[in-house]
Order: sequence, then structure tokens, then C-alpha cells
Amino acid sequence: MFHPLAAIVLCAGKGERMHSLLPKTLHPLLGKPLAYWPLSLAEKLGATPLVAVLGHQREQVEKSLRTVWEKAPLHFAIQEEQRGTADAVLAARQALAGFEGDILLMAGDTPLLKEGSLQTLLSMHRETGALLSFLTSHMKNPQGYGRVLRQEGKVVAIIEEKNATQEQRALCEINAGCYVAKASFLWEALALLLPNALTGELYLTDMVEMAAKAGVLQTHAIEEEEALGINDRQQLAQATACMRQHILYAHMRAGVTVFCPQTTWVEAGAQLGRDCMLGPNVFIGGNSILEEGVRVEQGAMVVDCHIATGVHIKPYSVLEGATVGPGCVVGPFARLRPGTRLGEAVHIGNFVETKNAVLHRGVKANHLSYLGDVDIGEASNMGAGTIMCNYDGFAKHRSVIGKAVFVGSDVQLVSPVQVGDGAWVAAGTTVTKNIPDNALAISRSPQHNKLDYALQLKEKKQKQKQNNKP
Ligand code: UD1
Ligand code: MG
Repeated sequence: MFHPLAAIVLCAGKGERMHSLLPKTLHPLLGKPLAYWPLSLAEKLGATPLVAVLGHQREQVEKSLRTVWEKAPLHFAIQEEQRGTADAVLAARQALAGFEGDILLMAGDTPLLKEGSLQTLLSMHRETGALLSFLTSHMKNPQGYGRVLRQEGKVVAIIEEKNATQEQRALCEINAGCYVAKASFLWEALALLLPNALTGELYLTDMVEMAAKAGVLQTHAIEEEEALGINDRQQLAQATACMRQHILYAHMRAGVTVFCPQTTWVEAGAQLGRDCMLGPNVFIGGNSILEEGVRVEQGAMVVDCHIATGVHIKPYSVLEGATVGPGCVVGPFARLRPGTRLGEAVHIGNFVETKNAVLHRGVKANHLSYLGDVDIGEASNMGAGTIMCNYDGFAKHRSVIGKAVFVGSDVQLVSPVQVGDGAWVAAGTTVTKNIPDNALAISRSPQHNKLDYALQLKEKKQKQKQNNKP
């Protein structure tokens, strides 16, 4: 049987306890804004419409969330003034006009809730015909959360910490801030709410007492960690630690080796193929894709890259916005910057930097080079210290190097230049003109050897030293 479900995610609050210029719900958690997590969970549960309530710094929040929900429908409702969580839900009423069914209500700051827990909550809610159901948790330190008040085991109300007595504060069962309500009950209950005497805010938690009085009310208890609400930076760090571990474990279950889970980071948007191996202190971020069998060694950082199968990234390399072809070897200490595209079996060695560079199959640049704004043809070899002089102080210029070109050590190519297929560039050359196919380019001052000069110089110096002695 089809049960209509809509969702409202509250993202309008000031987030004062973060002490931040950035809106709380945009603080990043493993590469995604905080609000992404409850919103995407509601989406997974099939909630339509899906409404985010915005208020404080709403333009910024909307812009950021729109980039995540580019195609899928996400509606925005505006809470003009931050008058509490119930007021925020009321701001979404218009967006859900005519909707009859269950409404999932979530806070934008509870990122660790699991799909399974919400499924259980929803089934309980539907099976019992409850007016309202919500998630609770038993916390060792319940400080800051609303406490669940029970009489003879039955929930009677939620009391916010600010309003709680000493005795109530000692209660360890807390409100996780995630509810399912029948739409009809929700709107009726919210219309009757009165501002809290202490803060003047409309508390969503006050509808619990109404549901308790009116009929069936359900709760489902979840793990302490899952219920974590992010109100300050300490809680953000706690959530980050948990989420980091969840992501790593999921990759491990799918066939990725993580040698040191204590130090490895894989952000939420990254995809890893089977038999990838990640060394200690590795960071895989953004929307990176690592195909099967990619080895990433100690301390390497890969952000927004596509890494093909069998690539070996050696220690302390930094790759950003790069596409790396199958079987490439990169590093140690390499830096691939945005716009780098490596074909198959390219070798990039230590202290080589690439940017807007297309290196075709089998190119080797193994030592100390800057390869910016350049196309390099198949099987060419770039010697140690090759520098593309791509910037003339005003504009960037691009060069093209052909196939099977041999560039000796310490060569500068002043862009734009073209180097023909099979050409050789002698060590120490500064290339300022195009080089035809199969030609040798050399620009060096001729070398003179003065025979025995070194010996004579040494003798002269020694004599001077003796003469100077007192
Ligand atoms: C809230 C609950 C508390 C629960 C805790 C769980 C209330 C009154 N209290 O407290 O019982 O234990 O969550 O984490 O509901 N928001 C708005 N507009 C507002 C105020 C808040 O959109 O006017 C949004 C916030 O952006 C946030 C969410 O609602 O995403 C919760 O608000 P927050 O201030 O974090 O409430 P807590 O003090 O954590
Ligand atoms: Mg909170």
C-alpha cells in the first residue's frame, strides 16, 4: 500500500553556538554541507515534496543546496524570523498545502541518523496509526537536548533543557529531533502552540504533549551516536569522526583495503572500485572516482580526480581536478593540478607539477619539472628540470610537443612553441622557436677546456695562503 510521505528539514536557525560567519547547515561534514545529510536521507525514503526551511543567511544556504540538488526537486520555504522550531515548520505549510499523509520533520543539524532507524519509525507509526512518532536516545551526557518525560512508561511530554528542573535534567532519554506526524494532526497542533514562557519561541517539542493527550504516540530509541545534534564545533568534530569511520567501513565492506583507518579520509562524494588500496594518511576528496585496483600510498591527496584502473600514486603526491589513465605511475611528491589529463601508462615522478597539460600514452616526466599549458605526444620523454615558460607576465600560452620527442635536462620551452615528432632538444637549451620533426635543437654557448688550469689555480691559491702567514 502506498503511504504518501512529505518531509520538512529545518535549516533556518542562527546556529549561534557555532560562532561562525558560515551558516551552521553549510558547515562541511566529509565534503558535504551539514544539511545535505538529513535532506538526502529524506530523499532516500521517497519523501515528496521535500522542503528545506531557510531563514538566516538564506541566499547562501539556498545557493549551496541548489548545487547539490541540481536536478531532483527540492523546495524552499522561508522563515522570516527565527522564532523557534515549530515556527519554522509552520513556514513550510504553504509548500505542503493539500498534502494529506505523513510528514517527516527533521533538523538540519542531525547528520548521523540512519535510514534503517527512520524506516522502523515509519513502519511503527503506520502500523499503530499514531498521530506522532519520534526518535529518542539514551545518552550518557544528555546536556543540551530536550528530555523525554514519561509517566508509567508512557511519554507525556518533552521538556527543553532551559525549562527543565534539576530532576528533569537528570533524565537521560533525549529527543533526537526527528518526527513523523500525520499532516492533519501536525497543522492542528501547531495552530494551538503558545510561545515558550522563557524564550518566547514556538517549540516543536510541545506538540508531543498534545499527541500524548490525544491518542497514540510512538517512540523508537536509537544509538547515542546516531542522535548527535550539531550545535557547536566540538559536536561537529565528533560527527566528523563518526562519519569518517562509517564511510571507510562501507568501502572496506565493498572490497577496498584501508591500511590505517585511523588516519585515512574518504569524503562522501568519492567512489572507490574494488581492490583499491589506501595507505596511511591518505585523503580522497570531492567527487573523485578511483577505478579498480588503484594504489594510493602514504600521505597522498586526491581531490575531484578520475583515476583509472591500476594506477599507482606514490607517497605525498597531491592531485586535484586531474584525469589519470590506466596504469600510470604518479609520484612520490608529484603535483597534478586541474586540467591535467594523463593517457595510459604515463610516468610522473618526484617534484613534477602539471597544469592544463595533456600527456599522451607512455610520456615520462620523472624529475623536477613544470608542465603547464602543454600537449605532449605519445612516448615523449621530458628530462629533469624541463620547464614550460607558459606565462609572459600578461597572458598564458600553450605549446605542443610531438610524439617520441626527447627533451634533455634543464630545458626551458618559451610558449607558444611547437616541437615536431621525433625531435631532440639538447640539455640546457632554451627553446624559443618551433622545432621541425626529427631535428635537434641546441642553444648553448660552446664549452672550452683549459688544460691543467685547475691544478695551476690550486697551486697559486696555496702560495698566496703561505705568503699571508705572519
Ligand atoms: C532541538 C530540540 C531538542 C532536541 C534537539 C535534537 C526544540 C525546541 N528542541 O534542540 O528537543 O533534543 O533539537 O538535536 O525543537 N531552526 C529553524 N528555525 C528556528 C530555530 C531552529 O529552522 O527558528 C532549525 C535549526 O537550523 C536546526 C533545527 O531547527 O537545524 C534545530 O534547532 P536547534 O537550535 O539546533 O535546536 P536544539 O537546541 O538542538
Ligand atoms: Mg540542534
